[in-house]
Amino acid sequence: MNNLVERRPRILTGDTPTGRLHLGHWVGSLENRIRLQDDYECFFLIANMHAFTTRVDKPEDIRRDTLEIAKDWLAAGIDPERSTLVLQTEIPAIAELSWYFAMLLPFNRVMRNPTLKTEIELKGLGDHYSFGFPLYAVGQCADILIFRPELVPVGEDQVAHIEMCREVGRRFNWTYAGVDPQAQDEDHVPLGGVFPIPRALVGRVGRLVGTDGKSKMSKSLGNAIFLTDTAKEIKKKISALYTGRQTMTEPGDINNALFQYVRAFIKNPARVAELETKYAAGDNLGDGHVKAEVAAAIDELLGPMRERRAALEGEGGDKRVLEILRAHCAKANAVAEETLYAAKQAMKLDFGRRSLLF
Ligand code: TRP
Repeated sequence: MNNLVERRPRILTGDTPTGRLHLGHWVGSLENRIRLQDDYECFFLIANMHAFTTRVDKPEDIRRDTLEIAKDWLAAGIDPERSTLVLQTEIPAIAELSWYFAMLLPFNRVMRNPTLKTEIELKGLGDHYSFGFPLYAVGQCADILIFRPELVPVGEDQVAHIEMCREVGRRFNWTYAGVDPQAQDEDHVPLGGVFPIPRALVGRVGRLVGTDGKSKMSKSLGNAIFLTDTAKEIKKKISALYTGRQTMTEPGDINNALFQYVRAFIKNPARVAELETKYAAGDNLGDGHVKAEVAAAIDELLGPMRERRAALEGEGGDKRVLEILRAHCAKANAVAEETLYAAKQAMKLDFGRRSLLF
């Protein structure tokens, strides 16, 4: 491994292709990814293998959603000239590393992972989920560490997975690379560890409320504003937002869903403060007015995305996305194979170097 070659610090993060991206994804993580493209070498992974954990019988849907998510990313501003898009199922080193990690993680530790528990509950999986379902959390540790990133920008719900990833990285380095268990996380690589211990970076709004005003914004709950929504759809969804307020002179609750949107999407901080003061005081500021401003701010954010997205529609768009994915996966495999070989060397499994034809 050439740890000595100077490189930009790396980012790895990803999404499971389950449908279109929405504003919750934007404020939770996507916005960070786009901002950090210059300062970091970025790898963005489409977790299409994970999509099979809950939709094993829906390969067509998963394929469609895979292309959709790539288009959403490109439309949102992920730049294929600077960042690398990674298709999980085309990186065999991830699956291989997942096996080694699975043996470093106690079974009960995986099953106690709070994000898995919440998902089992939310998706009503009961006790009839597949073996592959909890395994995805182990796989996610490999998704990340195979790229040896310093930073993992994610939404709040993913932090438990990143914590497990950090644990398995440390344990690998202690067990196979001679790193002292007392070592600080940032010293693992300088001390000869194969994996850095990456940090999660949570977006400025960890949990964005949906347009029902109650639950977290989520496609399956039908309370989402999608990155592809038109000005008209945005207006409609925002004006239906329930605030419980009757008149303009009634003091409003600035922690209601509408004001969470005010703070998340209106750019001018002075204007945000002014709206908050007037609303809280019941100073002639109607919900309708605030909603119009919020809808305009969201439309301003999404307008350029809609334009970039339009250029990717149709057959030509699919072709372009597939070309990008192929070229980028070749690059991602070069990095992933190098990491895997370093891990196998540490495990005394270096029986021969292979090369991948892609
Ligand atoms: N589990 C993540 C989600 O559903 C997607 C994901 C897969 C991911 N592998 C990853 C995120 C690695 C960050 C890093 O959103």
